[in-house]
Amino acid sequence: MEKIVIEGGARLIGDVTISGSKNSALPVLAATILCQGPNSFHNVPKLRDVATIQRVLENLGVQVTRETDGSVRVDSSGLSGNEAPYDLVKTMRASVLVLGPLLARRGKAIVSLPGGCAIGARPVNLHLRGLEILGARIELKHGYIYAKADRLKGGHIYLDVPTVTGTENLMMAATLARGTTVIENAAQEPEVAELGTVLKKMGAKISGEGTSLLQIEGVETLHGVEHSIMPDRIEVGTFMVAAGLTQGNLRLFNCSLSSLEAVVNKLREAGLEVYPDGEVVRVIGNNRVRSVDVKTLPYPGFPTDMQAQIMVLMCLTRGLSVISETVFENRFIHVSELRRMGADIKIESNSAIVTGVRQLSGAQVMATDLRASASLVLAGLAANGRTEISRVYHLDRGYENLEGKLSRIGARIRRVG
Ligand code: EPU
Repeated sequence: MEKIVIEGGARLIGDVTISGSKNSALPVLAATILCQGPNSFHNVPKLRDVATIQRVLENLGVQVTRETDGSVRVDSSGLSGNEAPYDLVKTMRASVLVLGPLLARRGKAIVSLPGGCAIGARPVNLHLRGLEILGARIELKHGYIYAKADRLKGGHIYLDVPTVTGTENLMMAATLARGTTVIENAAQEPEVAELGTVLKKMGAKISGEGTSLLQIEGVETLHGVEHSIMPDRIEVGTFMVAAGLTQGNLRLFNCSLSSLEAVVNKLREAGLEVYPDGEVVRVIGNNRVRSVDVKTLPYPGFPTDMQAQIMVLMCLTRGLSVISETVFENRFIHVSELRRMGADIKIESNSAIVTGVRQLSGAQVMATDLRASASLVLAGLAANGRTEISRVYHLDRGYENLEGKLSRIGARIRRVG
């Protein structure tokens, strides 16, 4: 099995080009089920999760081709199936994003029920309840969601929690429903807003995207579009932390900070220097990182997808930091691996109390989920000696060529096995 091996301690200096956003590309690709005519998307990251949604779409008769110029062409004119099978959904929960579009376009969807995952139970009850409000008949049997509707109708949905993929599923379903749908307490993440923008380009009538109140007036048909996927804000944040941990000096290209304020504020408070200049951001780390407290929240709060990475930075301060996770109930699995590298972290209910140590030491560790894996890579970059990370397929789900990008800026990192 492949491993990533890092010899820690190198200062990272140079330029990194940020890839397109995974969590934006996945719903945008799923949305092609809704439209007639070909789509062309630019800046689609080459990731395992993108390959998985491609397989889910191909299994439904949608044609997905990566062109020589890097763009991805998606043509759903051959859409013929209704099913997202267990074998695909079990490798990526976000496959459930085809549920809303399939139901709206085909009147029928059979989607394997995603199970729990390493970071929490992650139910989809709010997706299902919302679809029922839009007139779907839903049954759960044999581990599958069976959903049917002759034509969805507009409805008023209040989400108990602002679920990201739930909002996306419901927004997509509502675009082809008869009448008006209102979604209250909608997720405001920039990726949800971008999906709204793409759906509008396809001909959907949506207002309020990027806010907690969405209004969608159903239309009869949607058409294909051309669109460039936004930069991955979590990849930006991950490289910023890498600069902070190695007293690095990086220029991040194809980058925007507009959706990363909570992270940038915390990193500046911790002592990093961050200088945006158009689509380029310079980030400089220095040798006195200050401890800061962090609480993860839905957007615009501090993203849970950056919690593990900032925790590594906090491991190397001279003080004490409290990191509270409020989005997922079990997202501290990286802690026991970081402890094996010498970190001093205590867990008290949903908070991690991190006491800074002088140095982390390289060790053999195991990746458990995507962001946990990223945190182990970061810890390895800062640690003394050699770190070996196994189960790196988690990283490939969401970071495009991470070791290539890191080695180009001076990291001693390689993949073996
Ligand atoms: N929740 C429910 N019922 C539902 C849906 C969600 O109780 O029907 C709860 C969840 O259990 C969780 C909270 O609501 O406690 C928020 O979960 P959400 O549904 O927003 O998460 P998600 O849509 O499954 C997306 C991202 C995650 C990211 C979260 C939170 C995608 C494809 N995934 O997941 O990304 O952590 O939002 O921002 O957009 C990652 O990229 O590493 C990743 C895990």
